[in-house]
This record gives sequence, C-alpha cells and structure tokens, in this order.
Amino acid sequence: MEDNPVKVLCVVGARPNFMKIAPIIRALGNPAFRFTPVLVHTGQHYDNDMKHSFFEQLNIPEPDTDLGVGSGSHANQTAEIMKRFEPVMDAERPRAVLVVGDVNSTIACSLVAVKKGVPVIHVEAGLRSGDRTMPEEINRVLTDQISDLLFTTERTAADNLIREGIDPARIHFVGNVMIDTLFDNLERALPAAETVRARAESTGGPDISAGFGLVTLHRPSNVDDPDTLAGLLKCLREISEQLPLVFPVHPRTRQRMEAAGFTSSDLGPAIFTTAPLGYHEMLGLMREARLVLTDSGGVQEETTALGVPCITLRDNTERPITVDQGTNTLIGTDPDRIREAARQILATGGKAGRVPELWDGRAAERIAAVIHDRYQDTVQ
Ligand code: UD1
Repeated sequence: MEDNPVKVLCVVGARPNFMKIAPIIRALGNPAFRFTPVLVHTGQHYDNDMKHSFFEQLNIPEPDTDLGVGSGSHANQTAEIMKRFEPVMDAERPRAVLVVGDVNSTIACSLVAVKKGVPVIHVEAGLRSGDRTMPEEINRVLTDQISDLLFTTERTAADNLIREGIDPARIHFVGNVMIDTLFDNLERALPAAETVRARAESTGGPDISAGFGLVTLHRPSNVDDPDTLAGLLKCLREISEQLPLVFPVHPRTRQRMEAAGFTSSDLGPAIFTTAPLGYHEMLGLMREARLVLTDSGGVQEETTALGVPCITLRDNTERPITVDQGTNTLIGTDPDRIREAARQILATGGKAGRVPELWDGRAAERIAAVIHDRYQDTVQ
C-alpha cells in the first residue's frame, strides 16, 4: 500500500460491468503504473447467477466493498447507491473514480464523485442510441458530461461527445475492454452441448447437433409490455421450428413472463430456457451459434468480435460499428421482419463482418497508460 498510494476507485454494479472491469483492474494493478485499484460493487445485481460466477470465472478480486443495494425503482436504486457510496469515498479518498458502461451504478457513483471534486473516468463513453426513453441513454449522456477522462470504443463516439460540448482533449479512443475479456477467455469457453446437457438435468435438453440459435432478451421496451413480449415469444417459437433456440432468461424477463402467464411450455419444444448463464457458458454458446437474437448491448459487440450473425431486436443501437463493420443487423420487433432476417441468415450464413479497429484485446492497457499520464502528478 505504501508503495502504491494512489487509489483509483473502480465501480461495478450490474452483470455487464463485470467483464469490463476485469481487464482494467489487472492493467491498473500493473506495478509500472503504481496505482492501487479499489473495487466497489454496488450490489445492483445480487443474484448468484448474475454476480458470483462472474467474479470467479473472470478472476476479479472480491470487492473491497459491497454496498448491497439490490433492486428498486430507478430513483430509489440510484439514490440508495449514492447514499451508500458517499461514505466509501470519504473513507478511501481516491485520486479518481472509474466507472464503466451505462447502468444506474455508473451515473450514481459519478455524481457522488464529481460533487466531491474527485475526477470521474468513464470507460465506454460517447455511445448514443439517440433514444432518450432508454434509461441507459440518460445514464450515458449525464455520466459523460461530468467525466474528466472519457474512453471510447469506436470513433463515432468522439463525434457524439464533441457535439455535446465535451473537450476533445479529454476523449481517448482506446478500443473495447469487453473484447479484451472475450479474447482472454475464449479458450475457457465451454462447449455448447456441454452447457445444454448440464443445464437440462433430467430432460437431456434439445438436440443442438445440427446447429442452434441463441436468444437474450431483457430491455424494458421489449419485455415490460405484455403484448410486445407475447409477439416476440411467438416469433421465437416460429423460428425454433427451423432452428432450436437456447434462451437464458434474465430475471426481469422471467418476472414479466410469469406475470403475463407464460410458461416454458408455451414456448414450444424447441426453445430451451435456462437461468442466466456464466460467462464461459455464454461465450461457448455465442461462438457456436448459427445466429444470435438479442436486445443486449454487449452481445452485439461480442458477436461482432466472434464473427457470428446477430439480429438485434431494437430499432436503434448505440453501437453502430457493429452494424457498419460487424455482423449485426438492426431489425426491431416486427415479427415478420425478425422471421425474414433469421431465414436469410440460415440460408446465406449472414453478413461476414470484420473486427473493428482496436478491438484487439489491449484496450485496458491503453486505458491504464492514459490514466497514468493524466494523474501522474500524484504518483511518486
Ligand atoms: C440492468 C441495467 C442494464 C443492463 C442490465 C444487464 C440499468 C438502468 N439497467 O438492467 O443497462 O443491460 O442490467 O443485466 O442499470 N434482478 C434479480 N437478480 C439480480 C438482478 C436483478 O432478480 O441479480 C431483478 C430485479 O429485482 C429487477 C429486475 O431483475 O426486478 C431487473 O433488474 P434491474 O437491476 O432493475 O435492471 P436490469 O433490467 O437488470
């Protein structure tokens, strides 16, 4: 501690944060930089399968502090994180606070830090869907406005930031830490058949030997309205008549399905639902899938890095490079369009795509180097 006295407080809260923070903690801990990363978990995601397996699989150290906030309305959750984070700031007195992504924990901890005069570092800055009904979009715009250093994953992000008045000197295009984690873990990805067999328990699971598709669904705009949800599930059932689907169900989606009276059997025999999966299971399924249907942000990027065709069940994306260069196609939620997109991918193999610039597994190293340069005054 004496040798590395300058603390950078790193915040995680929800599942998509864990794979982003893992390489950053490692890079900041490099003795060449002489920083001490301190990990704070807000507890926004608290289920074992939304949290613990990721710490283990990604080799993330146990958090120095767990705020244990759990869920609640947006206002409640954000406020609770802020209240519990402030005393941690007072105790740790970090040189900077580093936040990732766009979840409620990201904005809540940034707000606390900036009002205490502690610089905020935002990793994955500048992504914009242009859709301010998305809670994440509000979190992105506001976090970027109060950040001192902004690290971007694609070049268009800087254009968005500059348009919003951010000083270009603060913006650094470094690549994608989520892809650092992906490349780092590829050899530990579990074979899809093994995952399905292990998760199917007594039933044995569907036969995926001739190929399968992978589904993830959790955006409020897709799952909170029972009619939209019903339309999507019906469409998935139809696609599953051509290609079996594996569907790890997010807790939000499970709650909404139950509330709307859906059971697994309503999905038909060729959709295999599971609890949320660990990272290595998910990576194996993504890598082997013939197509992925998703409304997740991270999965759009991961499929692009893996070269697997992705159908995004949204009208917009904050990650346009996955469409312009990668394997992603924005389809929206119209069942006819989704079915047609799936049919085309199965017939043609889908877009070839290429891996975007600087998605090379070294983004976290670049981030650590910039942080070092920026705050080196305080590093002896
Ligand atoms: C959050 C993020 C979203 C991210 C997603 C990934 C915000 C605004 N949204 O959405 O950007 O893509 O996580 O998962 O921060 N729940 C559990 N167990 C858990 C976590 C949640 O049962 O471990 C339940 C909650 O009680 C809640 C629902 O799932 O009812 C949704 O969780 P919440 O954290 O509100 O938002 P997400 O939809 O997960």
